[in-house]
Amino acid sequence: IDSTNSYLKSLALDGAPSGSVCLAEGQRSGRGRLGRVWVSPFGCNLYLSLLWRFDAGPAALAGLSLVAGVALVRALSGFLPQGLGLKWPNDVQWQGRKLAGVLIEMAGESAGPSHAVIGVGVNVRMPGESAAEITQPWTDLTRCLGESPSRNALAAGVLENLVVALRHFETDGLPPFLEAWREHDAVAGKSVQLHLPNGVIEGQARGIDDSGALVMQVGDELRRFASGEISLRMSS
Ligand code: BTN
Repeated sequence: IDSTNSYLKSLALDGAPSGSVCLAEGQRSGRGRLGRVWVSPFGCNLYLSLLWRFDAGPAALAGLSLVAGVALVRALSGFLPQGLGLKWPNDVQWQGRKLAGVLIEMAGESAGPSHAVIGVGVNVRMPGESAAEITQPWTDLTRCLGESPSRNALAAGVLENLVVALRHFETDGLPPFLEAWREHDAVAGKSVQLHLPNGVIEGQARGIDDSGALVMQVGDELRRFASGEISLRMSS
């Protein structure tokens, strides 16, 4: 397939029901956040997208990105009980290296209804020739565990945790997920750079506020950001 997210997005426009899932063995045009490529070799990793329909408009779904990150950590902790962390908003890391990522694409009327395609990529067993294409520190479950887990079991765990989390989010919003997200915050207290479309801001990561925004200390000021990409500064 080109991308499980792209495929499910087009099915969504044709009326596919909430809860529809697309899994692929490989992606020719796997997509990451911020227009990046998601390296997707055949038969090695998990590439999965889930369609979820909401009565509310996209603005009410601001916390969804963090909720998906918590669900993914819960699923992965069934395989790796220790060492998992979240890099805002929803990169899953193991000992500081990226293990899994989430790409959420939303559409809908501002007053609702809306829908989200939640795409999850988990590195399970990344072959060397594909690894050369990855531009950030990464790991895979095989390296973390010393053996390859069942991708079927992993897919089931990811879907179960996502569906439970989405139902909870629909009724209660982001608040029930804040504690779990903060427990796994991998960058709080560290010196970071926040990459924005119009430049880079340097400061100390100070966790997330109750809306899920990133809080950063920039000089004497505490600032909040709803979007952007964090990287650790070399000095931290
Ligand atoms: C990121 O961390 O940049 C997000 C990566 C998301 C990758 C998944 S793989 C399944 C789905 N289809 C895509 O094209 N992307 C997502």
